[in-house]
Amino acid sequence: MFFQFEVQVVMDFMGSRLIHMEETDSTNEEIKRLSAVLHHGSIVVADSQSMGKGRLGRNWSSPKDEGLWMSFILRPELSPEKCAGLTLVVALSLTAALREITGLDIKIKWPNDLVVNGCKLSGILTEMVTRDMEVDYIVAGVGVNLTTMDFPADIKDTATSLSKEGVIDIDKMKIVKVFSSYFEKYFEQYVKTGDFSLLREEYEKYLVNCGKEVRVIGSAEELRGIATGINSDGELLLDVGDKIITIRAGEVSVRGIYGYV
Ligand code: BTN
Repeated sequence: MFFQFEVQVVMDFMGSRLIHMEETDSTNEEIKRLSAVLHHGSIVVADSQSMGKGRLGRNWSSPKDEGLWMSFILRPELSPEKCAGLTLVVALSLTAALREITGLDIKIKWPNDLVVNGCKLSGILTEMVTRDMEVDYIVAGVGVNLTTMDFPADIKDTATSLSKEGVIDIDKMKIVKVFSSYFEKYFEQYVKTGDFSLLREEYEKYLVNCGKEVRVIGSAEELRGIATGINSDGELLLDVGDKIITIRAGEVSVRGIYGYV
């Protein structure tokens, strides 16, 4: 870490403390190291990450000043099962914020990738830390590609950034602020019912997979079907012909039949 400064983002709980670092290994790990002194809603933003972490054990390329690399801590009064749904709440909030700021037709690839024009713009990695079988805290990590024009070879055909999509004048802290305000609203609705009943319609409006044939990779066998939406637990509804089955987020990836989306 080369420097660290703190600013106040005036919200109800999001950004009650905001730590901005030039470099760290991973903002998710930074939150874990600081967890003992961080309140619900504290945010860490880094200009670069040397060991950015992605879902399913992958790494997350986080070059200096090319993206929003941010994590925040949540201390919700929810069971571990209910906390799993928070990752979709983060995706919904980020989608609403980035659509408002950029005007791009950003969609959600279930459960929590943000896509635009068929390519991945943003990913979310939510980690749960438990103590005595109860949720101690949640770390929600958000990566948004802002100005990257050349991606590493393995993701160059499936990744995009706001700059690649033609957005100019990108204000990183404005994204943090608008996102935080949507998140507070959606988080409150999620916590009120402990499920997606109040958010489902909004989420499905942005669901890129809706009505499309998809492959579910990572379960015991590869499944194919038409994605028809989500249920109130945030599970993907898959029409496999003779029945509708539900897919739980976690160790699975969903792909289009002919490509990433
Ligand atoms: C994914 O694989 O789609 C999830 C990517 C999550 C990346 C973000 S960047 C900020 C935070 N810190 C990390 O190490 N990962 C998340």
